[in-house]
Amino acid sequence: MIYQIYPRSFQDSNGDGVGDLAGIARRLDHVAALGVDAVWLSPIFPSPMADFGYDVADYCDIDPLFGDLAAFDALLEAVHARGLKLLLDYVPNHTSDQHPWFKESRASRENPKRDWYVWRDPAPDGGTPNNWTSDMGGSSWEFDAGTGQFYLHAFLREQPDLNWRNPQVRAAMLDVLRFWLDRGVDGFRIDVLWHCFKAAGLPDNPPNPDYRPELGEKFAVLQTNSANQPEIHQLAAEFRTMADTYGERLLVGEVCLPVPSLMQYYGSDAAPGVHLPFNFQLLDTPWQARALADMIVAYEAALPPGGWPNWVIGSHDAPRIAARVGEAQARVAMMMLLTLRGTPTLYQGDELGIGKVTIPPDRVRDPQDLRQPGLGLGRDRSRTPMPWDGSTHAGFSEAEPWLPLNDDWHTRNVATQERDPGSMLVLTRTLLRLRRDLAALSLGGFRLIHADDAVLCYARAELVVALNLTGEAQDCPVAGTPLLSTLRTPFIAGMLRPDEGVILIPEL
Ligand code: NOJ
Repeated sequence: MIYQIYPRSFQDSNGDGVGDLAGIARRLDHVAALGVDAVWLSPIFPSPMADFGYDVADYCDIDPLFGDLAAFDALLEAVHARGLKLLLDYVPNHTSDQHPWFKESRASRENPKRDWYVWRDPAPDGGTPNNWTSDMGGSSWEFDAGTGQFYLHAFLREQPDLNWRNPQVRAAMLDVLRFWLDRGVDGFRIDVLWHCFKAAGLPDNPPNPDYRPELGEKFAVLQTNSANQPEIHQLAAEFRTMADTYGERLLVGEVCLPVPSLMQYYGSDAAPGVHLPFNFQLLDTPWQARALADMIVAYEAALPPGGWPNWVIGSHDAPRIAARVGEAQARVAMMMLLTLRGTPTLYQGDELGIGKVTIPPDRVRDPQDLRQPGLGLGRDRSRTPMPWDGSTHAGFSEAEPWLPLNDDWHTRNVATQERDPGSMLVLTRTLLRLRRDLAALSLGGFRLIHADDAVLCYARAELVVALNLTGEAQDCPVAGTPLLSTLRTPFIAGMLRPDEGVILIPEL
């Protein structure tokens, strides 16, 4: 069970309105009390923050906004002292344009680091070298007047893509992993792993026949040639082999691809991949029992031998689950996330059921939103500060936080929910305790029992999970003794009340 912390928004300790490492250390009791196994920190490295840390200017240090290496070591020690593991965010596809490597690379065509990034001449008509579009909107190419060539950036122009075909890049970036592993970290979440290799020759991408501009320009073309190239699996194997030399370490790969391609990131005996290629399908599947059942069964069936499943239902990039399915269903969603087979990743604040957040236009910070306004692509709504209590700025900071709090922070905060046995926080803790105590939930096999328009029901070894995905009462497909209901009042035999999920010991 992984808990994702977005460091800017967890806890501020120095009154600048932005979270930091000392703040995280102060709030570790909350993390430990949840009952998770590992913490993943979004990037904490020196960065101009064009993409809030996913634009790294130095892979082997800490941004002063978050602290320094001493604060990091102290945090790592505190995490380990609680029996937890710490995962860092490794961003291999691109650096910041302020990284010394890129500054050198753009200094001249002859610079020894020129080939560390992807540079190309303009097309004969002076236009971009090909038709690739950036995930943040617009072309993937930025013209550099100083040297008369374009450089490639899959994301912001401030995030130039590294050239992983260059052996020096490979060596330097593997050294980065060693640097942190030597310091004692337990693994990495690898940012946009599937992007690192592009097709040789950089041919145009095919146009997307189903392009809908309202979803963002990144979908104007299919990313056939700009991502997911076969060479990536050799690189993943290299990451894995190296991490394995440190003993029990975890690699989680961010891979947004259809299931057959996703599965390749588990690798093979000859070329092992990452342990967990992130499975984002709970975010993409309609919140409907049959659709979810089909997706879960297909995912389970596609896993390679020995491939361990995993589930994600929220992140700093995705809309809040409670905003998407509503507050009542968010409790059902939590039960699903924590009872499916495999490692769940829980995003900070989802344990409180944070849903509605209003970001006034003058407080929008997300570069993706600012570049493509009006499309509703804003990620700020998921990045708002943790509400800890009812004090000023919800106990997050003594200063005005960098993003507004959730609208209902006066009542929806950790302190209030700790006191309320029926709260989302207590439900989350209880589910995690059951997962820990009952091998059926942590290790037991998965078997679909029933799915119709309203109810999804599955077995985990000898236990049964029945979820009502609607606001109307339904028959419970399996009779049994309840272990836990998502509702605050006792289970009623034979039925699932509106928005109820239950874990049952079935009658034989
Ligand atoms: C995925 C990260 O989760 C997202 O926040 C970031 O903008 C892109 N990768 C680029 O690094």
